Amino acid sequence: MKKPARTVCPEAEIVCLCNEVTRGEIEKAIRSGCDTLNKIYDRTQAGVGPCGGSCRKFIGPMLDQYLQTGEFPNCAIRKKTGRTK
Ligand code: FES
Repeated sequence: MKKPARTVCPEAEIVCLCNEVTRGEIEKAIRSGCDTLNKIYDRTQAGVGPCGGSCRKFIGPMLDQYLQTGEFPNCAIRKKTGRTK
């Protein structure tokens, strides 16, 4: 039996709800050389909002996988919130 195709997250998916930072913005920061979480936070403002960084648990795996494979995860980072930037 064939496996269903994996869902690719849209670039407009909001990863950091506090500062409305999208998946695409985080991926762009990583591709342009942000190779630590602090560099990503500084570049995008993701992870430094008033909630205290609840989105960091999503950003870390994105960075780790990119550094290990050169690709980003093809899975939902957050459940759909209806919010897009
Ligand atoms: S959701 Fe990213 S800092 Fe709050």
